[in-house]
Amino acid sequence: MRTTILDIQKMKQRGEPITMITAYDYTSAQIIDRTGIPTILVGDTLGNVVQGEQTTLPVTLDDMVYHAKMVVRGSEKALVIGDLPFLTYTSEKQAIASAGRLFQEAGVQAVKLEGGTHMASTVQRLVELGMPVVGHIGFTPQSENQMGRRVQGKQADGARKLIEDARALEEAGAFLVVLELVPAPLASAITERLQIPTIGIGAGPGCDGQVQVWHDLLGLYTDHVPRHARRYATLADTIAAALTQYANDVREGQFPTEEHSVKMKAEALQEALKQIES
Ligand code: KIV
Repeated sequence: MRTTILDIQKMKQRGEPITMITAYDYTSAQIIDRTGIPTILVGDTLGNVVQGEQTTLPVTLDDMVYHAKMVVRGSEKALVIGDLPFLTYTSEKQAIASAGRLFQEAGVQAVKLEGGTHMASTVQRLVELGMPVVGHIGFTPQSENQMGRRVQGKQADGARKLIEDARALEEAGAFLVVLELVPAPLASAITERLQIPTIGIGAGPGCDGQVQVWHDLLGLYTDHVPRHARRYATLADTIAAALTQYANDVREGQFPTEEHSVKMKAEALQEALKQIES
């Protein structure tokens, strides 16, 4: 049985921290499901960490459907949230069509979109149509050309606006709000004022839960670690060491050995060679 939005709400009521991690394929979804992490986000960070783009902007709805489908297929327990990519929810009509594809074609249980007060009516419409919505405020990567890649809400006006945004999303029926790159005291203040859970990334420990990007957490980059992330493994090094060992074994005749090979009767081969040569 998958986690439901009701389970998520109950976790907030019990004060139980909610964990979320991004995933983009079948194999990682299978691994996540083994851990009991209740929510998976098929984020449009897909653009950065899988496609090698500088921003999330080039990610298309087709990309999201393709990847979300694999994640849904790989998981049985986690609630899977699919991101609505840049410019796929500019009107209610377009949002319904885009979210509809993620639900119908990929099989997600919720969608996430960026924006606060100005997205409230879209959120409300999706929810009315039976599509659970996660809001995303603070730093919103799809607007990074507008706002820059930096912490939001440090000054009173910006902080007030974020509280209003969070409230508007809750009133519109969102069941979760992601707070990205928000000062910790502000994230705590928002969390205390909402009935629905907040999920932080770079928003401090006062949120109801945390979301992290698969590649950041597992050390799949060779270069930087974002400030808001902690590396729990250095898989890029582990994988590189394994690949080096594999290549050395092949070069030195250590792989494959008999145990990796299939035998056949010598007479069958001889007969085949005879037929070829005659
Ligand atoms: O796209 C994504 O992975 C996200 C998270 C960073 C919250 O939006």
